[in-house]
Amino acid sequence: MNSQKSGTRPVSSHRTGPLTGTITVPGDKSMSHRALILGGSATGTTRVTGILEGEDVLCTAEAMRQLGARVEKQPDGSWAVTGRGVGALTEPDRVLDMGNSGTAARLLMGLVASAPFTTFFCGDASLHKRPMRRISDPIGQMGAVVTSRSGDRFPLAVTGRDLMPIRYELPVASAQVKSAILLAALNTPGTTTVVEPKPSRDHTENMLRHFGARVEVETDTGGGRIIRYDGQQELTAADVIVPADPSSAAFPAVAAAITPGSDIRITNVGMNPLRDGIFTTLRDMGATIDIENLRTEAGEPVADIRIQGGTLKGIEVPPERAVSMIDEYPILFVAAAFAEGTTIMRGLEELRVKESDRIAVMAEGLKACGVTCEELEDGLIIHSSGSTPPQGGATVATELDHRIAMSFLVLGMRTEHPVTVDDGRVMETSFPGFTRLMTDLGAKFTEEQAG
Ligand code: S3P
Repeated sequence: MNSQKSGTRPVSSHRTGPLTGTITVPGDKSMSHRALILGGSATGTTRVTGILEGEDVLCTAEAMRQLGARVEKQPDGSWAVTGRGVGALTEPDRVLDMGNSGTAARLLMGLVASAPFTTFFCGDASLHKRPMRRISDPIGQMGAVVTSRSGDRFPLAVTGRDLMPIRYELPVASAQVKSAILLAALNTPGTTTVVEPKPSRDHTENMLRHFGARVEVETDTGGGRIIRYDGQQELTAADVIVPADPSSAAFPAVAAAITPGSDIRITNVGMNPLRDGIFTTLRDMGATIDIENLRTEAGEPVADIRIQGGTLKGIEVPPERAVSMIDEYPILFVAAAFAEGTTIMRGLEELRVKESDRIAVMAEGLKACGVTCEELEDGLIIHSSGSTPPQGGATVATELDHRIAMSFLVLGMRTEHPVTVDDGRVMETSFPGFTRLMTDLGAKFTEEQAG
């Protein structure tokens, strides 16, 4: 993995008819990171099936190797992760390259905060712009030392110490911050408490339990959560089955929902209730979505999703739903561009500090494609006639953001003229094989190699 990529690969998306077929999208990114980190911190060998082999997760795999875990792909496609137990990380002999991944960066900063050495981190140009004070503040309060350039941005170094447990109220509902603190707590004596204003994805808590640890979770009167973790518990290897990523499923789901006559199934999708806001919202907009074969696998709900194309209508999306679909707004903006009427989406300040400023980058690209939208500090309002498709015909800058690339390729499937994204390689971050899978459903993409 090298953060200094050269060359670009523009991809164009052409207007298509109804989409049909059954697909399985790649494994859940959040769960894949956590399986490697917790598996690599447990004693014994954890077999992980369904792991996402995207660039973000490969960064975490390499980092865990550097920290002393054995991480190997098996001939049957599963991954074997062997750790040395809590408190037994070893000092990396090189800088950990986190590539494009905010999750890898933040979770691993938490993990190494209690290790008796200094870990150096770097990433790509997008990651170097992202705020890290949200991690250096709490792990600093626990006793770790973070050395960085101004603004607590990457590249930076974390010097681990014997930490003290803290009670930390998250200023923003962020699963990455919550998880970083819980990972710092792994090897910290006493009880660490994290208070979150709104429940964010709870894969770390679920997986800690799966590895045999006790995690106490209480819901407070305002709907927030209080999570308590007693440090220095043993973690024991436990096999993990990673379901397909609902955030990746959102792209074919929206493509089908905006294309009348479509009828697709996406199998084995993770349906954690703290992640499923996009499907609720698409239904509120009038999409026909059936959840079939709902079951539980390795402690997480999983289902097949059937989506039929039709007509969508604009709605006001409840801002409190944002945390359960924070990564899905770029593709929801695309759905809104084909919905009849006005769609109002607010409470999205966090979108400005994702892999790109997703409000600004999406607004600019949508306008270039003929979509009428109003950018707000905390959201976007999209106006659409529903019946006349946007003209398209633009080339959009993806700004090293996989979800921007995939969103505009879905937009181009329904616009009058093709839509081009300047660099399709960024999709490898979370969704390797995106163009092939979408083509299986009926999408038409053309790719060119550029300098
Ligand atoms: C993630 C949490 C979210 C999300 C990211 C993955 C995780 O970030 O946007 O893609 O795996 O914990 P925040 O916790 O910063 O909102």
